[in-house]
Amino acid sequence: AVETAVGFIRDFTFLRNIHVNLEEEVRVRTAELEKINVELRNEIARREKFEKALQFSTTQIIEYSRRRKHLSKRLVELLEQDRRDMAMALHDHIGQILTTLKMDLELLRKKVTDEGARAVMESAIEKASQAMSFSRNISQELRPAMLDTLGLVPSIESLITQVTQSSGLKITFFHRGIASKLGNDKDLTLYRILQEALTNVLKHASARSVDITLIRKANSVLLTIEDDGSGFDQKQVTTSAKGPLGILIMKERAAQVGGTVDIETRPGKGTHLTARVPVQEQIS
Ligand SMILES: Nc1ncnc2c1ncn2[C@@H]1O[C@H](COP(=O)(O)OP(=O)(O)O)[C@@H](O)[C@H]1O
Ligand SMILES: [Mg+2]
Repeated sequence: AVETAVGFIRDFTFLRNIHVNLEEEVRVRTAELEKINVELRNEIARREKFEKALQFSTTQIIEYSRRRKHLSKRLVELLEQDRRDMAMALHDHIGQILTTLKMDLELLRKKVTDEGARAVMESAIEKASQAMSFSRNISQELRPAMLDTLGLVPSIESLITQVTQSSGLKITFFHRGIASKLGNDKDLTLYRILQEALTNVLKHASARSVDITLIRKANSVLLTIEDDGSGFDQKQVTTSAKGPLGILIMKERAAQVGGTVDIETRPGKGTHLTARVPVQEQIS
């Protein structure tokens, strides 16, 4: 019986010790849990704050991007409008005056009998003709009416003829699969990009020749302009504070129709410009 009692007490003490240990354990764990809880709460608060800040800056970025798109669109629109107005003024006013001036001179020539005076009249008529064709060329450059009537390829060919005649630059033009109208301002976009690129070659490149290609791909039209001129350092151009606008506007124009303009160039290595404009997939 004693032995049983001793055994019982031993078991009891053992059990009680376990119990005390357990309580201690639970207390420690509870404290730990509480600490973790506080940390979690802090973390959640921190994240909520962060999320709010993120949301704010996302809203801001979307707003900036919206404003930027709007400005870019306006810029291109204003440029086109200015050119249209000037082309119209040239054609309607100066063109008209020159035409009637030439008619007057021709009328006078018929009435003049003096040989010397006739020669002067001839020369005056010739000058009026030159001024007319000059004004027509500028007007055409400002607003290529051909684009709307004959489409992109003939307009490019006409531009090339004009540049070749006035500069002596050797220009080749290869095109494949281009529909007469790409639509949605895409013709005008590509035409204007080519115009600026050619102007840049004449102004900056001291090139001897330029190769132009206009090629239809599955989902896009690719325009490339490659010159064998001086090339340039793009970093120097794009990082200057009051930088030039030509290339920038080319890129804005392309972006307006969902396209891109990329330039590859190095000093002494010529310049290779690629404009890509997306178009509807061709159904064949
Ligand atoms: N084809 C080119 N060959 C050599 N340099 C070029 C060519 N195109 C552009 N550049 C350089 O890049 C600069 C920026 O061109 P652009 O933005 O069209 O401005 P801008 O023609 O008014 O100077 C030019 O000033 C010139 O230094
Ligand atoms: Mg330029």
